Amino acid sequence: MIKYLGSKRRLVPVLAQLCAASGARTALDLFTGTTRVAQAFKTQGVAVTAVDTARYAHIFAQCYIETDAAAVDMTALHVAIDHLNRLRGRQGYVHRTFSQEARFFQPFNAARIDAARDAIERRYAGSPLYPLLLTSLIEAADRVDSTTGVQMAYVKQWAPRSANPLVLRVPELLSGAGRAVRGDAAVVAPTLGPFDLAYLDPPYNQHRYFTNYHVWETLVAWDAPEPYGVARKRIDARDPSTRSAFNSKRTMPDALRQTVRGVDCELLVLSYNDESWLGVAELETLCGEGREVATLAFDSARYVGARIGIYDPSGVKVGRVSHLSNHELLVIAGEGDLVRHVVDAVGRMGDGTCAPGPDRLQWAP
Ligand SMILES: C[S@@+](CC[C@H](N)C(=O)[O-])C[C@H]1O[C@@H](n2cnc3c(N)ncnc32)[C@H](O)[C@@H]1O
Repeated sequence: MIKYLGSKRRLVPVLAQLCAASGARTALDLFTGTTRVAQAFKTQGVAVTAVDTARYAHIFAQCYIETDAAAVDMTALHVAIDHLNRLRGRQGYVHRTFSQEARFFQPFNAARIDAARDAIERRYAGSPLYPLLLTSLIEAADRVDSTTGVQMAYVKQWAPRSANPLVLRVPELLSGAGRAVRGDAAVVAPTLGPFDLAYLDPPYNQHRYFTNYHVWETLVAWDAPEPYGVARKRIDARDPSTRSAFNSKRTMPDALRQTVRGVDCELLVLSYNDESWLGVAELETLCGEGREVATLAFDSARYVGARIGIYDPSGVKVGRVSHLSNHELLVIAGEGDLVRHVVDAVGRMGDGTCAPGPDRLQWAP
């Protein structure tokens, strides 16, 4: 899986436990990103729908959630990955834009990304292997990038991993049914249900995923957009249609309210962060609306970019590190017995799991 801001790597065991305790057979992951939470649900045999606006997240969802491993021609997949790994580099858009004008990849890897991406389009467009191969390529590129995890800047000196050769791997596919939907959560939510469990993990702040991961957007779109600025972002990053209502303090509360109201589910779980625009009481009111609500809080280390600082191309440190720990919140809403049951199940998770235990339990009156 790619390095991703707001990724719920540490909370996945908690969310998996919560899903199991709820007895859900159907689930919605409304801001799916890497799809790691949707994957944890699917692993339990739950039929999952994974939604995101990002092109690359939609490709990941097609690969890991919509694709049933049992239906994949694994021989053809291995042959395709071997073929892509053997291609010689070709100096195309990625080489020019992201290794010469910017330095996200070393030139030899950038040329191989160009070659592999062209081949995927030429040979596999329309094939069920297409999202699997694209996922494999993005994950391979992520393993050899030279960033702190976001694509607004690159590190002053080549990151050690960027010297490794690009190697595509066969994605670890899951068996079972699933659905991938690309769209604005607030718009599509009412069209998708009903679900036993809905998990909502919206952006927490003004930092846009579209610009932080513009290289992955372009690798999927493969439309050679005009680039601008030191990070060589896509020109359509300036287009209002690429903005999310969840990235603005002014528009986020209404967007979240509209989304929550649109979701048809028995149990709603919202991830949020205690440094963000809405406080716990506001979140509980927003998620409650006639349902019982509990909030769990988990200590979390901040993403690596905040820890080490971010550098511009001349090596000057930009952005300041404020403090290094915050709390991840899980706001859980539904019928009283069900909410209490899943909260108890999470509370019983002790040492021996890799999950952080909740350090605060709060019941709405
Ligand atoms: C906090 S991240 C989710 C991380 C994910 N749970 C994971 O573990 O990888 C928020 C996600 O919301 C997506 N997003 C932003 N605005 C959106 C919108 N209006 N509708 C749907 N998805 C949106 C972003 O592309 C991003 O993937």
